[in-house]
Amino acid sequence: MQNSDTFNDALPKHIAIIMDGNGRWAKSKGKPRVFGHKKGVSAVRKTISAAAKLNIKAVTLFAFSSENWRRPEDEVGLLMELFITVLSSEIKKLHKNNLRLRIIGDKTRFNERLQRKIAEAEALTANNTGTVVNVAANYGGKWDILQATKQLAKLVETGELNASDITEDMISQHVTMSDLPDVDLLIRTSGECRISNFMLWQMAYAEMYFMDEYWPEFNEDTLVKAITWFINRERRFGCTGEQVKALMEAN
Ligand code: IPE
Ligand code: IPE
Ligand code: MG
Repeated sequence: MQNSDTFNDALPKHIAIIMDGNGRWAKSKGKPRVFGHKKGVSAVRKTISAAAKLNIKAVTLFAFSSENWRRPEDEVGLLMELFITVLSSEIKKLHKNNLRLRIIGDKTRFNERLQRKIAEAEALTANNTGTVVNVAANYGGKWDILQATKQLAKLVETGELNASDITEDMISQHVTMSDLPDVDLLIRTSGECRISNFMLWQMAYAEMYFMDEYWPEFNEDTLVKAITWFINRERRFGCTGEQVKALMEAN
């Protein structure tokens, strides 16, 4: 019991994933990009089921960035259709497994049908207590900080808050996923080493794991590999390694 508690404490509480490389994976197989997006859905399924088995508190998956609207119209259209189809086909299973689904991002740009599907899926799973699965769609880290800033500015405008009293904690409470721990581990597939405007505030101290495999190749084993790498990192939060060791010895 003692050992399994210690092990659970070492696991990341919040894992964020930039699911990249669908297009290149499809191209390497001589197929159209959309083939890669469709195959990417099974990697999402495997990831969610493995994270749930490990009792990870939250997984946040970057599905569509605020910049992805710049892609060719037909690819954006196909991604939206896929999003609706997957929401409809997977939501019952997520609910049955006690998982909570949330979509983070600026949802106002989605068509009405998709917004309705999202609201229904979120409502159905709202009271579930298992792993929280956040899907970032039309999400941008800068948008997130901006919308938090606007909420605080409103409070200043109505006289409920003094500008000089704004704290980092208040911003943390107004960015998305304020009820969840900050991201401990960020994973990005496909060999790219950048954040691409994913969470900025919530990833301030995340460990970052960049791997060469394309997203459709991601599975339980690759997730475990990333988590094992994370457990072996020494997280210092600005302290020296000696201070962290002393703290561990004191506990
Ligand atoms: C990630 O794969 C999925 C989305 C951004 C929707 P990409 O579509 O970016 O694939 P590559 O990077 O072009 O290979
Ligand atoms: C980031 O991937 C967004 C998602 C995975 C949804 P992109 O493939 O769009 O990122 P860039 O444009 O290469 O940085
Ligand atoms: Mg990409």
